[in-house]
Amino acid sequence: MTQNNASAGSLPLVTILSDTGEQRIPFDAAQHTNLLDALRFEGVYLPAICGGRGTCGKCRVKVVSGNLDVPAASGACLSEADINAAFRLACNAVPREDITILIPETGEQSFHTVNSFDLESIGPQADLKAEELIPERNALSFARQLDGGKPGRLSLKELTAISQCADMAAVYLYRDRGTILSVRDKPGNLYGIAIDIGTTTIALVLVDLLWGLIAGRVSMVNKQREFGADVISRIQRANKGDLPQLTKSVRQQISRGIGELCRDAGIASAGVCKIAVAANTTMLHLLLGLSCNTLGQFPFTPVTLDFVTCAFPELFEGNLSCDVTILPGISTYVGADITAGIYFTEMHKSAEPSLLMDIGTNGEMALAFAGKLLCAATAAGPAFEGGNMQWGTGSVPGAISQVSYREGLFEVKTIADRPPVGICGSGVVDTVWAGLQNGLIHESGRFDKAVPPSGLFLAKNPEGEDICFGQKDIRELQLAKSAICSGIDAIVRHAGLAYDDIRNVYIAGGFGYNLNFESGAGIGLIPPPLQPKITLIGNSALGGTVKYLLRGDSAEEMNAITALASEYSLPEDRYFNKIFIGNLNFAAGHEDDR
Ligand code: FES
Repeated sequence: MTQNNASAGSLPLVTILSDTGEQRIPFDAAQHTNLLDALRFEGVYLPAICGGRGTCGKCRVKVVSGNLDVPAASGACLSEADINAAFRLACNAVPREDITILIPETGEQSFHTVNSFDLESIGPQADLKAEELIPERNALSFARQLDGGKPGRLSLKELTAISQCADMAAVYLYRDRGTILSVRDKPGNLYGIAIDIGTTTIALVLVDLLWGLIAGRVSMVNKQREFGADVISRIQRANKGDLPQLTKSVRQQISRGIGELCRDAGIASAGVCKIAVAANTTMLHLLLGLSCNTLGQFPFTPVTLDFVTCAFPELFEGNLSCDVTILPGISTYVGADITAGIYFTEMHKSAEPSLLMDIGTNGEMALAFAGKLLCAATAAGPAFEGGNMQWGTGSVPGAISQVSYREGLFEVKTIADRPPVGICGSGVVDTVWAGLQNGLIHESGRFDKAVPPSGLFLAKNPEGEDICFGQKDIRELQLAKSAICSGIDAIVRHAGLAYDDIRNVYIAGGFGYNLNFESGAGIGLIPPPLQPKITLIGNSALGGTVKYLLRGDSAEEMNAITALASEYSLPEDRYFNKIFIGNLNFAAGHEDDR
């Protein structure tokens, strides 16, 4: 490695090589505690999913020239071979001289997102029609003609639109629930944008409001991952002073996404007349820049769960002038994404009991029965997203997503058929089920004696390293699996129902979409009586947000959902805590075999 000392008195310069080019940033030790901090400050993205605690190993960089010391704490994530190959953890490295680093390709930018949903179930927009009007020369009289006989009702935005009509021969007016949405000199398309901010990915959809069609989609990894993979670590970072950066990060990404949507669809920004956002409660706090202090400590209350309406420039960059509506949530841990999911399925209107589940780092669930909505969240941990595992990774190209076992060997399939880079949630579940079926893993979760200490060998990565599934990885899955199946059991029991009473089980979200249900059933994730009733509904939060944009009665419906909903606290439920331990076992019976 070449020695490349910074000149006296100047700051060490970090040259960053990545697949998008080369960038140079100074490292100021007075301002930044470590390299990750400096990269983040300069907008260089690294997936630091443990939030910089030095436990995930995802912030690896390779030193190409110059020296970067290896703190002792790196040992948990870097092997001797890694260190010799000049890999360092950005979260604990402090440059003291000029260095050049390479950010390895992680595939994070091509995170596989599920942003599909069944649009047909939403139906066309019925009540958004153009009214053709001949504007009066006298702007004041014209404004009064439009104010519906209620002087003082028009907003500044509406008055601005009206003021631009004075010289037009005719105007075409679109009203949304009585409010003037757009005034044009000729009839044209009107668009809305639905946004789902997930903890891992962000999805945006451009909706043609007049035809009820999807006109474009954009999805991206949520770059807040550089502050931690789950909501708890984001709350902690926000409360330690990083709230402005977290807010800026998500607003910038969405602003860029909106620009991309409009550009790709070839529409002028004036064509977008409403935007709605769904997300979990923490993501919405971070978007709005609201303090997360009360989210992170007892009694864990949010600042708001209600509809919030903002003018576009209050949140985002760009020249749109429409309003942005933040959809309402149910509780701190059951957010607007679930409200939107319930609205999407309309399960709250069904006479038959239905269960909605979104399985991720938090297992969120809603049970509709007898005109009630019982909601709960259970901390599944990151196992279903490949977190906290030796070779765990998100749903990126090259992630092992399907695993089978034949004649003493594991066979794997990867996302996008790329060379294996790690194992994602669905691959984890497949591996354990294959191990259980073939006697490699016992029902207690322990490996059979025949399994070597390195664990189950799945594949080699492009560097020739063995991708193995270890004992600790099984433990992570056991915790996640028990959180979900115990949560389902407890909420159904609390409602006074049996599994046979439930008619529909809707599974939302990316993990459910990719899961092999035979494997999920095999490890006991979903109670057997519920398995035949499962419908995969994709990104129901996004679907519900699109529906919000398209339906005239959506605000009332969402308010009705939040009024019906009550939260059931699983951590305080003795029954949940009792069965949780038993359900860690892969052979644990489901209490409703009761
Ligand atoms: Fe550095 Fe996780 S090990 S961010």
